[in-house]
Amino acid sequence: MGRLLDISQVTAGYGSITVLRNISIGVDAGECIGLFGPNGHGKTTLLQTISGLLRPAGGRISFEGTDITGARPRDIVNAGLIQSPQGNTLFGDMHVLETLELASISRRARRGRDENLRRVFDLFPQLGERRSQKAKTLSGGERQMLSIGCALMCSPRLLMLDEPTLGLSPRLKKELAGAVGNIARSGVPLVIVEQDVEFLLSLTQRLYMIEHGEVIREIDRANAPDHDSIMKLYFGEAVH
Ligand SMILES: Nc1ncnc2c1ncn2[C@@H]1O[C@H](COP(=O)(O)OP(=O)(O)OP(=O)(O)O)[C@@H](O)[C@H]1O
Ligand SMILES: [Mg+2]
Repeated sequence: MGRLLDISQVTAGYGSITVLRNISIGVDAGECIGLFGPNGHGKTTLLQTISGLLRPAGGRISFEGTDITGARPRDIVNAGLIQSPQGNTLFGDMHVLETLELASISRRARRGRDENLRRVFDLFPQLGERRSQKAKTLSGGERQMLSIGCALMCSPRLLMLDEPTLGLSPRLKKELAGAVGNIARSGVPLVIVEQDVEFLLSLTQRLYMIEHGEVIREIDRANAPDHDSIMKLYFGEAVH
């Protein structure tokens, strides 16, 4: 049995600009991995490529043994490979409940709608309390919860979270880490993009450091260097 998600030698970019260069990354069944690296170095581009929103110029992506390189985004979503995108991508005038229902519009997701809705409200009770509130009136943390909730409404077989804690206070970050930990423990494999290495080490088995569209280092949690050493690798020796 091969890997759950296998990204092999992928090259991708925008027009004539190459962003990802021969990236190879793997996720095994039941595993959570983290991606981190400086701003603008290709983390989101990688997730967009996996989701089929960008067509790779080279390389191969397979999911559960099926080649999905160049497949349509809707087919990739239907296969259960779901992305919660970076930033606020919600429709501000839609209510929480409407938003979650819209997220489960595909035939596959509709089958699990009631159960998934219960699961989202169990995981994020604030969303249940605010089910009739418009998305634009939610706090930043609640919007992030709703965005992850939308991804959960699709019954993910692998969930990719792009900077789920961006702009959140330390308290909210901790709360969100708890919820993401619960998602992982419920058996959903995760790919998490984050700048906060400590956050990633607490949730994932393996980290990939991405710079200039390349994997420059792979770190296993089991023998990860301490946090300060990782920061030195990341920022150079100037960090104390
Ligand atoms: N739609 C686009 N068209 C052209 N260039 C783009 C587009 N989206 C991203 N880029 C460029 O691709 C490069 C990688 O961007 P990307 O968003 O993948 O970085 P990132 O690592 O996710 O950064 P951040 O940590 O800030 O989210 C950047 O130079 C960016 O300007
Ligand atoms: Mg990004």
